[in-house]
Amino acid sequence: MDEPDASPCTCIEEKELTVKISSGSTARMLDDRTIEVNLPSKMGYERIAMDFSACFARILGFDPERIEDLRTAVSEASLNAMEHGNRWDSNRRVVVTINYDEESLTVFVVDEGRGMAQLPDERQVREKIAQLQPTRGLGIFLIRRLVDHVEFNRLTDQGHAVKMVITMAGARS
Ligand SMILES: Nc1ncnc2c1ncn2[C@@H]1O[C@H](COP(=O)(O)OP(=O)(O)O)[C@@H](O)[C@H]1O
Ligand SMILES: [Mg+2]
Repeated sequence: MDEPDASPCTCIEEKELTVKISSGSTARMLDDRTIEVNLPSKMGYERIAMDFSACFARILGFDPERIEDLRTAVSEASLNAMEHGNRWDSNRRVVVTINYDEESLTVFVVDEGRGMAQLPDERQVREKIAQLQPTRGLGIFLIRRLVDHVEFNRLTDQGHAVKMVITMAGARS
């Protein structure tokens, strides 16, 4: 992956219209509190979405531990979008929209796929943790644990979306 041309916080502070982050990816302020990051489906580019999300979370005053939770959740959702949604086709885009208000930060991760036929159930996850099943397949489990609210399988005109919210109050639902 190329070195980013701009750091997330710089982009947010400068409120540029569209910023080239690194080859094939851009960030665009949609309004004062919303940024849209457009990424190719390539390993490593999920870090751009993680960094922008973390930057907004810092602005909002989340503590470092919560910011790490958010980074992990955004990473898992973005990698799922690239792997399962877009099947590692680098021409297919992952669009990550991050928005915040006084109380919460919301991240949408949109891929060009059709979403999940079935979400893994808790029993499968327990078996993986006990190493009775291959230990892949923990991404959704982690996302559920790390954010306050999550919706999978939101089908939109742009494709399949995962919505994640972390709140200042930290009430998980
Ligand atoms: N964005 C997505 N589009 C389609 N299917 C998905 C998506 N994200 C997850 N899935 C499905 O849910 C399963 C579980 O995802 P996850 O818990 O992250 O495990 P893993 O990515 O290791 O398979 C995936 O194997 C896949 O079948
Ligand atoms: Mg995964």
